[in-house]
Amino acid sequence: MELILDTGNVIEIEDLYTHLCIDGVTTNPSIVSKEGKDFESLIKEIDSIVGRYIPIHAQVISTKFEDMVEEALYISNLRENMYVKIPVTKDGLRAIKELKKQGVKITATAIFTAHQGFLAAKAGADYVAPYVNRIDNISGDGVSVVSDLVNIIDTYNFNSKVVAASFKNAQQVLDLMKVGVHSVTVPADICKAMMAHPLTNWSVDKFIEDWSNVFGEGTTTNKK
Ligand code: E4P
Repeated sequence: MELILDTGNVIEIEDLYTHLCIDGVTTNPSIVSKEGKDFESLIKEIDSIVGRYIPIHAQVISTKFEDMVEEALYISNLRENMYVKIPVTKDGLRAIKELKKQGVKITATAIFTAHQGFLAAKAGADYVAPYVNRIDNISGDGVSVVSDLVNIIDTYNFNSKVVAASFKNAQQVLDLMKVGVHSVTVPADICKAMMAHPLTNWSVDKFIEDWSNVFGEGTTTNKK
């Protein structure tokens, strides 16, 4: 299962990429705007941290088919392993179909139903990104939508991965792991929440205390 970072903050990316096995970075126009940096420079900065083999996903702003295709080609050429995020509007689905013919890597985004995810996979999207928390916020069941979509993709052997997006807590991520989601993209705070438990640090402190009570300060390499 892939773990992707849903942030454009290079300090967070560097920290988490250094400590964990991270399979990619996703951005969207809101995430990029938050950083207040030139788009192309930000992508290059992220690239310099994760290296050229790790996918970066960035989204088009255009909404008309022809403009989406043109913008997608620009984004796609920014680096190797660049995935272009296309919202699954009517024009977006057409753009996905066209861009796949041209060999562009696509992440279909802003997915709220399993039907939309199916149509994006059918159009050739490499990733399909349902929005878990945004679905929950409209009294839907994000985990259930993603679960249905995973089932459809796996049953019919589509060449797409479900990358669940839009998380507000670590429990949503765990619920999706249990239904076999292929990939999740999580903001840095949720990634850190997945990593941490106060009793882990407490246990480490206790181990050191017990050790030093007998052997004094130091580690296994220099005990007397
Ligand atoms: C993926 O990159 C999505 O754009 C993102 O996860 C949306 O998250 P939000 O609903 O927290 O804005």
